[in-house]
Amino acid sequence: MARCRKCRRKKADVFIPHHRLPLCEEHFLEWFEEYLARTVKKFKMFSPKAKILVAISGGKDSLVLWKALNNLGYHTEGLFVDLGIEDFSLISRRVAENFAEELDRPLHVVSIAKEIGLTIPDLKSRTKKYCSLCGSIKRYFFNRFARQNNFDVLVTGHNLDDEASSLLSNTINWQLKYLARKYPVLPEGNGFVRKAKPLCRFTAFEIKEYARLQKIEYLTERCPLSPEATRLVYAELMDELEEKMPGTKIRFYMDYLRKVYPIFNKQVEDFLDRPLTQCEFCGEPAVSSPCFVCKLKAEAKA
Ligand code: FES
Ligand code: ZN
Ligand code: ZN
Repeated sequence: MARCRKCRRKKADVFIPHHRLPLCEEHFLEWFEEYLARTVKKFKMFSPKAKILVAISGGKDSLVLWKALNNLGYHTEGLFVDLGIEDFSLISRRVAENFAEELDRPLHVVSIAKEIGLTIPDLKSRTKKYCSLCGSIKRYFFNRFARQNNFDVLVTGHNLDDEASSLLSNTINWQLKYLARKYPVLPEGNGFVRKAKPLCRFTAFEIKEYARLQKIEYLTERCPLSPEATRLVYAELMDELEEKMPGTKIRFYMDYLRKVYPIFNKQVEDFLDRPLTQCEFCGEPAVSSPCFVCKLKAEAKA
């Protein structure tokens, strides 16, 4: 492999294809954190003093994000939502807790079995839509925890591969509501906290390399319950395009943000379709009252 572009001394450990950048271990880690800081600044995600809640799953993205933000000196705490998916939840929780201990930062845990009285496997036996319901449940608890505990922003580990493939899927299906949400930072309002995706310009490969060099132990298993079939088709398509034309993902995504997103931006609140009412039981923003979580709670008790 070539020499590191930065020090020109050491052998390169990592080659970043779409930046055409060979870097040694030290300078790759430095590049990664600098690029992260620049992404935060570029999209005005949060200030250096912000109190940040990191949504932790135990996978590479959330742990890498937590580590890198912590190294940059931000005030961070983690939140893990325990979905009660048997071994999968047990193992991911353990991975997250071990990591938090090593990082010496607090990890909060919300268990949906305790909160709602139901687990995701329970929901699976009741509805085919359990997977998207699971996504909504996670968003509900992340938002509620962040707001109730005065965090300035909730950050998630979505990376460039995720953003580019869901952008492709949302475009092919013209899902305007989702497209309007695609921006890497969403403002607070109507009971929702500010949200940001600081890894949106990093590929899964770069994140894996950061995890490898920082010796981060993360969970590689995917949730055994999520039917991934369609999501994977778009991800594979994007990977194929990227392989044939390196830089496609970042161009597709950044050009969307630069050229197309401003069209939504003017009316983003309309497109975001944020619920206007509040649940009379839990106080969370909701389409109608009781909200979907309080309905589930009542069902669990029945
Ligand atoms: Fe929600 Fe698997 S993580 S269904
Ligand atoms: Zn170097
Ligand atoms: Zn409610």
